[in-house]
Amino acid sequence: MAQQKTILRALAGETLPTPPIWMMRQAGRYLPEYKATRAQAGDFLSLCYNPELAAEVTLQPIRRYGFDAAILFADILLLPQALGADLWFVTGEGPRLSTITSADELAKLKPTDAIHDTLNPVYETVKILSRELPKETTLIGFAGSPWTVATYMIAGQGTPDQGPAHALKAENRAVFDGIIERITEGTIAYLSKQIEAGAECVKLFDSWAGSLQGEDFTNYSIKPMQQITAALKEKHPGIPVIAFPRGAGTKYAGVHAATGADCVAVDEGVDAAWVAEHVQKNGCVQGNLKSSHMVTGGDALVSETRRICDALSGGPHIFNLGHGITPDADPENVQLMIDTVRGS
Ligand code: CP3
Repeated sequence: MAQQKTILRALAGETLPTPPIWMMRQAGRYLPEYKATRAQAGDFLSLCYNPELAAEVTLQPIRRYGFDAAILFADILLLPQALGADLWFVTGEGPRLSTITSADELAKLKPTDAIHDTLNPVYETVKILSRELPKETTLIGFAGSPWTVATYMIAGQGTPDQGPAHALKAENRAVFDGIIERITEGTIAYLSKQIEAGAECVKLFDSWAGSLQGEDFTNYSIKPMQQITAALKEKHPGIPVIAFPRGAGTKYAGVHAATGADCVAVDEGVDAAWVAEHVQKNGCVQGNLKSSHMVTGGDALVSETRRICDALSGGPHIFNLGHGITPDADPENVQLMIDTVRGS
């Protein structure tokens, strides 16, 4: 029975004696075996589009640590590429894309049905993983949430304040809304295929939700996540959804109800005791440990891990970091965190 997997039990609202655990970016550059496979693939995008190797790096942290979930190895920027944007990564700097800021450029995006031509290798990775993962491990698929993906498509790169996307929203609302709509539709199609290929849960990463204020937060973070969640649940009844509006602050309190997500992932900017009182009362929560503890380790890592587990012990909880693990993390600190959560 699928429901015996601990992550799926927590997502269904069960309070478990020990929270299940996984980690954002658990397959990544802090692991020597990841770096070796990435070198074999040549570059990051070649790794994402090579099903055998992408499955291999997804499995590496499961073999090393026995996490309760594996997250598909891919990137949120593969969808813009599948819609027709040029995408490349500059070493030491990050992603670069061709920009979309006009009605003409928006009209040139490929139709939603065409995205699968590019994304088929990702679905192949999911199929391999659903065969090869241990039976107790949950397979999580994911996509970027429309606002976050739009910030990259509009600026052509990561930006500290998402200025170009805010500017387009202010200056040409019709084009901005059109971009959000195209990403929303593409995300529904992309995640549906991941689920059909074997993903047992999906997560929406809205990494830049924190720069949306007032109505913008409702219209551009919450609403697209709600539309995607509703469409997926209609097509795939029972599929659990995790929403991660990073930087939402006190607005985390209403996210379960407003999006229909089964679990809300919280960053390190909110206190675990506040999360228990205001967010977990509405459903499962995940996250909160500062990623920097994976670099610094020691007593602070142990006491913070315990504090979060204690604060969230009264309801459904999946242990995770507040954001992705960084390349300078020490793999031994990850083991220490897991041992602390599991009480050994
Ligand atoms: O969590 C996981 O392990 C699943 C795989 C995953 C990756 N990226 C792999 C990756 C996921 C879920 C993402 C999401 C992602 N990608 C987000 C949203 C989540 C977040 O972290 O806020 C964003 C904004 C991106 C876009 C992106 N991709 C950036 C900004 C970068 C960093 C560039 C750099 O050089 O540091 C990437 C690259 C990337 N995506 C790496 C990994 C493991 C590192 C690439 C490498 O091996 O060089």
